[in-house]
Amino acid sequence: MPKATYHFPRGFLWGTASAAHQVEGDNKNNQWWAWEQTGHTNGTSGRACDWWAGRWGEDFERAAASGQNAQRLSVEWSRIQPAPNRWDEDALERYRVMLKGLHERGLTPLVTLHHFTDPLWLAEFGGWESEAVVALFEKFVRKTVGALKEFCSLWCTINEPNVYALSGYAHGAFPPGVNNLKRAVQVEANLLRAHAAAYHAIHEVQPQARVGYALHYRPMLPKRAWSPLDRLMRNISYTGINMAFPSAISTGVMKTPLGKFIIPEAKGTQDYLGLNYYSQDTITFNLFNPKHLFTHMGFPADADFSDTKFIANIPEGLYSSIKWAAHTYPGLPILVTENGVESADDRMRPRYLAGHIHQMWRAVNFNWPVQGYFHWSLVDNFEWERGWTQRFGLWALDPETQIRTKRPSADLYADICNENGLSSDMVQKYCPEVFEKLFPS
Ligand code: BGC
Repeated sequence: MPKATYHFPRGFLWGTASAAHQVEGDNKNNQWWAWEQTGHTNGTSGRACDWWAGRWGEDFERAAASGQNAQRLSVEWSRIQPAPNRWDEDALERYRVMLKGLHERGLTPLVTLHHFTDPLWLAEFGGWESEAVVALFEKFVRKTVGALKEFCSLWCTINEPNVYALSGYAHGAFPPGVNNLKRAVQVEANLLRAHAAAYHAIHEVQPQARVGYALHYRPMLPKRAWSPLDRLMRNISYTGINMAFPSAISTGVMKTPLGKFIIPEAKGTQDYLGLNYYSQDTITFNLFNPKHLFTHMGFPADADFSDTKFIANIPEGLYSSIKWAAHTYPGLPILVTENGVESADDRMRPRYLAGHIHQMWRAVNFNWPVQGYFHWSLVDNFEWERGWTQRFGLWALDPETQIRTKRPSADLYADICNENGLSSDMVQKYCPEVFEKLFPS
C-alpha cells in the first residue's frame, strides 16, 4: 500500500467559515429573521450557535486546538447600524473583542462585510433594488473597517452576490421571495457597484488591506456532450450564474442574459479571488420546462449524494474551479473561502473532505496560487431556507442545549491542518473507501 503525504506550501491558511446570522443567534433586526417568523424556513435561527451571547470563545478554542490558523466570519450590518442614523458602538466593540480573540489564539481573521442579511430598515426601503444602497453600504463599510482594522486586514466585501440576487429575486427561496429575472439582474448590478465602492473605500481606510469577494462558482457540464442544445443551455446557465461579477471585474462591463451594465469602477477590484465550491452541475435541454428556460439542472444519477441530495460529491469540480480562476486572473491569489457538505452522521464528510483537499493539492502543484482553504463549517449552523435540516459542521450542534459533539471529520481536518497536508495514513484511517483513488498503487 503506497505511503505518501500531499503537502501544501508553507504559510497556507487553514480555517473554517461562518456567517453572522447563521451562528450568532437572536439577530432580530434583519430581513432573514422576519422571513423566518412567517414560516418560510425549516425552523428558525433562534439562538443559532449562540456566538453573540459569548460561545464564539469556545468555538474559536476548538478551531485553534485543532490546528487551524485562520477563521472566516462575518459582521452583521443590522447590529452595527440598527437604524439609518445610529451606530451601535457596543456591537463594534464586541466584534473587536472577537477579532482580538482570534489573534490571541493564532487565527488570522478573514471578515465578510455582507453575508445575505440586510438591516430591516434597508429591506423596508427597497433593499438592493435601488441604487441608493451603494452609498449606504459604503458608509457602513467605512465605519466598520475603521473600527476593526486594528485586528483585520483581509476583507471579503460581499458573499456570493450571485446567490443573493438569484435566490432572492429569481427563484425566490430567499427573502424577499421574488420571481423576476429582470429585478435579480438589477440587484446584482447594485451589489457589484457596492462591492466596487467598498473595495476603494477599504483601501482608503486601510491601504495595506487585501480585499475581495466570495464567488459561488458552479462548474457545469452538458449532460450529453454531443447535443448542441445541452451545450447551448449549459453555456447560458454557466454565464448567467457564474460570470456577472467575474466579467465585470475583468472589463468594467457586467454581462448578464438581459443585457450589459457598464460599471467601470468595478474593474480590477479584487486582491484575491474568494472561491466557494460545493458541487458541479449537469445541464440538459428540456422542452417541457419553459418555466426554467428549458433547462434542467441536476447531478449524474449515480453521483455520491449528500443527505438531502443538495450536494453531489465531485471533488474534480474544485480542481476545475481553481483552474478557471488561475487562467482568468493570472497571478491573482486564490482563497477557497467555502467548501463542505451536509452529512449528519458524518459518513460522507471524510471522503468529501479528503477528495477536495486532494484536488486542491493537484491545483497547487501547477503553481496556481491557492493560499488558503476555509471549510464550511466548524459547527452545524442555521442553513437559511433549509434551516436545521442540513448539518455542515465538523462538530454536531444541538441548538436546544447548545451541546457540541465532535464528528470524526473534525479529527481528520485537524490532522490535515497540523500536517499542512493530506497523508495516506489519514485516508486509510478516516475514509479507506477512497484510498485507491487518492493514492493509487
Ligand atoms: C453560503 C453559506 C451556506 C452554505 C451551505 C453557501 O452558499 O455562503 O452561507 O451555509 O452555502 O448551504
